[in-house]
Amino acid sequence: MCGIVGYVGQADACEVLLNGLRRLEYRGYDSAGLAFFADGAVQVVRSVGKVAQLAERVAAEWPAAVRARATAGIAHTRWATHGAPTEMNAHPHADESGRIFLVHNGIIENYASLRRQMEGRGHHFLSQTDTEVLAHLVGECYRGHLFEAVAQALKHVEGTYGIAVFTAEHPGEIVVARNGSPLLIGVGTGATLVASDASAIISHTRQVIYLQDGDVAVVRADGVDVRNLDQIPVDRAVSHIDWDDTAVEKGGHAHFMLKEIFEQPESLQNTIRGRVDLRAGCALLAGLNLTPREMAEVNRLVLVACGTSLYAGMTGQYAIEDLAGIPTDTEQAAEFRYRNPILGPDSMVVAVSQSGETADTLAAVREAQRKGALVAGVCNVVGSTIAREAGRGVYLHAGPEIGVASTKAFTSQVLVLLLLALALGRGRRLSREEGIKLCQEINAVPALVQRVLAQDGAIAALAGKLVAAQSAFFIGRGVLYPAAMEGALKLKEISYIHAEGYHAAELKHGPIALLDAQTPVVALLLDVPGRDKTMGNVQECLARHAPVIAIATEGDTEVAALVPDCLLVPRTGTYTAPILAVVALQLLAYHVARLRGCPIDQPRNLAKSVTVE
Ligand code: M6R
Repeated sequence: MCGIVGYVGQADACEVLLNGLRRLEYRGYDSAGLAFFADGAVQVVRSVGKVAQLAERVAAEWPAAVRARATAGIAHTRWATHGAPTEMNAHPHADESGRIFLVHNGIIENYASLRRQMEGRGHHFLSQTDTEVLAHLVGECYRGHLFEAVAQALKHVEGTYGIAVFTAEHPGEIVVARNGSPLLIGVGTGATLVASDASAIISHTRQVIYLQDGDVAVVRADGVDVRNLDQIPVDRAVSHIDWDDTAVEKGGHAHFMLKEIFEQPESLQNTIRGRVDLRAGCALLAGLNLTPREMAEVNRLVLVACGTSLYAGMTGQYAIEDLAGIPTDTEQAAEFRYRNPILGPDSMVVAVSQSGETADTLAAVREAQRKGALVAGVCNVVGSTIAREAGRGVYLHAGPEIGVASTKAFTSQVLVLLLLALALGRGRRLSREEGIKLCQEINAVPALVQRVLAQDGAIAALAGKLVAAQSAFFIGRGVLYPAAMEGALKLKEISYIHAEGYHAAELKHGPIALLDAQTPVVALLLDVPGRDKTMGNVQECLARHAPVIAIATEGDTEVAALVPDCLLVPRTGTYTAPILAVVALQLLAYHVARLRGCPIDQPRNLAKSVTVE
C-alpha cells in the first residue's frame, strides 16, 4: 500500500527520495509525490502514475544544480483510499498556510468531522483526502515548534497513521509519528532516513530504529529524539538489519516473483535451519517461548490470516490436527475478529502473516489477547507489528519478499506450521520414530523443491493451455484443497484470469455447470489421501470436455495415462506434498501471466501489505 521515505542529510535529497520510492514500488500504488528543501524553500512535485513519471516531472521542473543542493525532504507513494488517484489527492499535502507538508500512510477515521470543524473556522481543502485534514490540523497547532504541533494535533485524531512532517522553517528536521502503520528510522553517517519499509533505505544504512505505536520523533542529520504524545522521552533500541540490498534486487531475473520462486530451496533451508532435531525427532521453536507444560496445556488452536497466508494456515491445520490431535480452526482474520470467538487461556491463536502488518490479522491478534488466549505470530518481516505485539512466535527467515504475489512466504509458512505440529505432536501422541520420519521429510523438502523448479520448461509449456482461458478451476482434496485455492489465487492476481479453487468433491454441487471445452481444470492428484476420489472428479470434468492439467506424483502412470497434460513432481510425505504442488502452481501462474504480458510484480489494484481493514 502507501509508502513513505524521508531524508535529512548533506545533499542530493531528491535522488535519495526517488530511489527510496522506487524500492517501495512493489507495495502497489497509483500516484507519487515529494517535497524537498533547497535554496531556502520547500518545493513540492506530485504526479499520477509511476515513480518514473514523478522523476521526469522533478527533472523537468528543477535544474540538476538545484536538486543537488536539496538537503532534506519527504516522499510518498499513494494507494488511493479517500479520493481517486489524482495529482490533487497525491501526497505531500500542505496545511492552510502552505508552510507545513505532510505524507501519511493509514486512515484518519474521524477526518470528516475534523474537516467540517475546520471548514467552519475558514479552512479550504484542495483534495478529498483524510491526509490533508491532518496537515491542516498540524498547521493549526503550529506555534513555531513542529514537534509540539504534531504531538498536539495527533491527540485529536482517531485512526491509523505513519506520518512524516516537514517545514521550510526547520529544514534540518522531519517529525515522524506512528500509530498502527509501520515506520522506521535509518541511522546513517551524517544523514538520517525515514521509511515505512526497510527496503527503501537499506542501501544507505542497516542500522534502524523501529518506531512503536504512540511514538513521535524528531529526526535530524545527526540524531533522533523519540518521545510519546505527551512529549516524554522514550528509549528505542537501534537494530541491525541482517540482509542487504542484493535481497531487494532482481538478481538477473525478469521479475521479483520469478526470483522469489527460484529462491525457495534456499529460503526453505533458512526456515528449517537449527529447528529440526533429527536425533530426538522433534522441532526446536525457541521463539514460541513456551515450557513443555504450557505446550501440553494448549487444547485448542486457531490460525488467523488473510489471502495466501490463510491458505498456508489451512494447510497447517491438517498437520496440527492429525499429528498433535489438537482441535484446530483456520479463520479469515476479519471474520474472526468480528465474530466474538470463544477463546480461553488454554487456546492458542497463531497469526500467520508474511508482512506482519496486515490490518485484519493484527486486529485478530488484539482481539485474541483481549480474550486471554496465548498468541503467537508466524511472520516473515522481523520487527513487524504482529511479530512484536504477539510477543512470541516463529519467524520464517525467508528473506524480503518483494513480488506482490506471495510465493516463498507460503512455502515457509507451511513448513513452520508443520514444525509447530511436530513440536505439539511430540508432547502428545507422536512417537520418537514418527517424529524422526517427519524430520527426514522436512529436511528433504528444499532438494525436492529444486527438482520441481527444474521442470520450469515443462510448466511453461503447460501455461500455453491456460493462456486464452477466461475462467479456470483448481481442484484438490485434503491437504491439496488449500493448495488448489492458493493456485487459483496466484493465477487470478497476476494473470487476471478468473480462477476458483474448489474442493474436488464440491465441484459437482454447482460449479460443474460452468465446465466446457474453454474452461480448464487444474487437478491436484499427488499421491496423498484423497487422490483416488479426485481421479473420479477428473473423469467428471473430462466427460464435460473441460481441458484438464494434472499435477501428480512421479511414477503415477494412471494419472499420466488419463491426463496427457500432466506434470509429475517427486514423491514426498502427505504434509509436505502441498509445498511441491504449490511451487508448480506458482510457476504455472507466472508463465500464464508472462504470456499474457501482465505486469507481474505490480498487479493492478493490489498492494503488498494490506494495512487497511
Ligand atoms: O502479509 P500477509 O501474509 O498478512 O498478507 C496477506 C495477504 O494480503 C497476501 O497473502 C495476499 O493475498 C497476496 N497478494 C497473495 O499473493
